[in-house]
Amino acid sequence: MALWRKTADNKTARRAGIDGRAQIAIILNMNASEDTVLQVEDLRVCFRHGQNRTEVLRGLSYRLQKGKVLAVVGESGCGKTVHALSLLKLLPPGGKITGGRILYQGKDILSLSAEELRKLRGAGLSMIFQDPMTSLNPIRTIGKQITETIEAHTSYSNLRARAQAVRLLKKVGISNARKRLEEYPFQFSGGQRQRIMIAMALCLQPNVLIADEPTTALDVTIQAQILKLIRDLQRQSGMAAVFITHNLAIVADIADEVLVLYGGYCVEQATVHALFSKPLHPYTQGLLGSLVSLNKKVEHLPAIEGYPPAPGMPEKGCPFAPRCPYAGEKCHSCLPPLIEQEQHKVRCWLVEKNEKSR
Ligand SMILES: Nc1ncnc2c1ncn2[C@@H]1O[C@H](COP(=O)(O)OP(=O)(O)O)[C@@H](O)[C@H]1O
Ligand SMILES: [Mg+2]
Repeated sequence: MALWRKTADNKTARRAGIDGRAQIAIILNMNASEDTVLQVEDLRVCFRHGQNRTEVLRGLSYRLQKGKVLAVVGESGCGKTVHALSLLKLLPPGGKITGGRILYQGKDILSLSAEELRKLRGAGLSMIFQDPMTSLNPIRTIGKQITETIEAHTSYSNLRARAQAVRLLKKVGISNARKRLEEYPFQFSGGQRQRIMIAMALCLQPNVLIADEPTTALDVTIQAQILKLIRDLQRQSGMAAVFITHNLAIVADIADEVLVLYGGYCVEQATVHALFSKPLHPYTQGLLGSLVSLNKKVEHLPAIEGYPPAPGMPEKGCPFAPRCPYAGEKCHSCLPPLIEQEQHKVRCWLVEKNEKSR
């Protein structure tokens, strides 16, 4: 397939005056797009407060390949949840996508009809939220909630949907599943409720799972179990996932690629290996610095000093400049572009200037 493309592209490329290396890049790019399940292009989101508009996501772009996990990492308030809700067109009132595109299997989500969106949610893109209690209905049994979702999206009979619900609960580690289908959310522990949310998110075998801080509300041992469960299920089913967290420490085990958000901007994006072995942005270096200290169990963690930027600060200078130990005059006055070097992207004036600008 690629060879055929190469021959066909050769002629076009020669006509356009593109050399051999650029042709290979085009071919790789074409194959990459075949495997792309989700593509976010220059996504911008604003919130309206009376007459004022606050831009909270400022041009986010990435590609998610089949079967891969992208971790989106950043401190509280940097836009992680807003980004996740945008993917499903579920922004709260006042929130609006003001620019960019979100392509699911090549189709722009923002142009889908209400019915197409309903089909997409659950079967295409499915989401696990941070706090299961806000997503589970407290006055309906778990069994009803899972079977209703299955029945709404498939032609399964109630009997078949229930059998599927039992299988799913067993899969996520809820024992005595048939009996527990009759129980209400409050009858389960926090960890079990999160397992149920995972079962619900998986019940339509989505192509992309979006997990928004799925373990933050749980204690540390349960967090590790739930992370392992998500990772095992993701690998078994080959689905892609966007894994959102403020905790860089848990990313290494679960993700293939990491995107670091700061003040609504992508400040760095790379493979897990590249990001952990050679972080380029001072913010990522700061986040990783705290991790190293955690491993060494020192008493005082060198956290990054200062606070994240207030939402809607003017688009002037690097958003991290006020906290950056290396910031110079240009960093305070001019927003650095996202530059790319060997698939490692970074938004920082301090990085060598011989990379091509995006
Ligand atoms: N419903 C809302 N109304 C107004 N602003 C909001 C709303 N939800 C989020 N925001 C703003 O959007 C920014 C990003 O929020 P969020 O995506 O929830 O951050 P994160 O998930 O990274 O902690 C924040 O500055 C927050 O104040
Ligand atoms: Mg959040």
